[in-house]
Parts: sequence; C-alpha cells; structure tokens
Amino acid sequence: MNKLLFIANWKSNKTASEAVDWLKAFDKLRENVNLENKEVILCPSYLGLPFCFSYIKENNLPIKLGVQDVSAFRQGAYSGEVSARQVKEFAMYTIIGHSERRKYNHETDDELKNKILVAKQGGLNTIYCVQDKNTFIPEDADFVAYEPVFAIGTGTPDTPKSIENTFSEISKKTGKTNLIYGGSIDFTNIKHYTRIPLLSGFLIGSASLDPNTFINILQAC
Ligand code: PGA
Repeated sequence: MNKLLFIANWKSNKTASEAVDWLKAFDKLRENVNLENKEVILCPSYLGLPFCFSYIKENNLPIKLGVQDVSAFRQGAYSGEVSARQVKEFAMYTIIGHSERRKYNHETDDELKNKILVAKQGGLNTIYCVQDKNTFIPEDADFVAYEPVFAIGTGTPDTPKSIENTFSEISKKTGKTNLIYGGSIDFTNIKHYTRIPLLSGFLIGSASLDPNTFINILQAC
C-alpha cells in the first residue's frame, strides 16, 4: 500500500532559523507517531530550504522536501526566478498552481502547464492544485490536489462526500488516481477524511506551522 502524503505548506511563514526550530521539535516528538505508513513532505520557503535540507540529512529525519512554486523557465537570464534545477539540489517535490498564486500572481493555465513540463524535466514530482472539478489539469501532473478556495485557511473544510465526488469526476476526466485534499485540515477533523477513495494525501497549511499540532495530525491517522 502506498504511503499517505502529509504535505506541509508553510507559505510565506517562518525564517530559516524558525524552520530549523520546527525540525528540532519534530525530531523530539516523532517517537510518538507511527510514520511507517506516512510520507511527510515539508515545503518551506526557498530561503529555508537549504537549512532544512542540512538539518534533515544530519539528523536523518524521515522528511522529504518540496517547494511551493517553481519557475516556468529552465535556467538562464530570468532575474528573480528559481529554476527546477536549483530546487532539485534540495527537494523532490513542487506544488504548482496554488490558488494564492493564481490570485496574487495572476498565474494562468498556460503558464502552469509550462511549469509542470519544466518541473518534470528538472526531475521534480509535481503536485498540481485545482480549485474545483472543472479546473484545467495538465497531463503530466503527478499528483492533483483539490483545494476549494472556500476551505483554505477558513476553518471550514469541504465535506468527505463532496471531496469523493470531486475526486471521482477528476479521475473520470483525466485518468488520474493520485489525488490529494487540502483546506482547513487539522487534527480534530482529519480522521473523517482518511477513507475517501483515491485519496493519496493531504495538503496542510495553517495546521502545519506548529510542530505539536502537526504531530497531532499524524497521530490522528
Ligand atoms: P489551510 O491551507 O490548511 O490553512 O487551509 C491549505 C493550503 O492552502 O494548502
């Protein structure tokens, strides 16, 4: 059986030293959790990434790294962009098309399709966010994360039934079966969601920021 993914999306939170403090706390608390059937994927800021990478390596932590976005350009004269090749030194995954990037950075379907291609060519596993069952999904996306906007950071997750229906529509339309849910998941509600057919994991924002809360989520599953 595949491991369930627990993807912590820290967004623009935490300095590099706060990120390492989180890892230290996680390291102390992890003996209370059975991680055999779980894959923890931490997505810090680009600046925190190398520090997290070193700490995880030195302390042999069972955590993989990801980023929250990646450039649509391969490499070269693209000031301010971070390429998949640069990310690959430290991380295995990238989130692409989060609704916050669509909203605040005006990312379009075409640009996101390109990001998926470039990320895959750069050797990253892609987690493509969609906001509903009608959102365009590039063929090459490895994982599809259903994240309804009304559920993000609001404390009101979608219902298991509605997620199941959306997963089923997405899978019918695209043949994809690696499906993730995100939006207001925490340790009090996650248990209601773990049995949804086709569920491969969770994308967790606010509730991943505190190591105790995040460990509680892992413990609840
Ligand atoms: P949330 O965020 O868990 O704070 O709702 C999820 C996300 O934006 O990926």
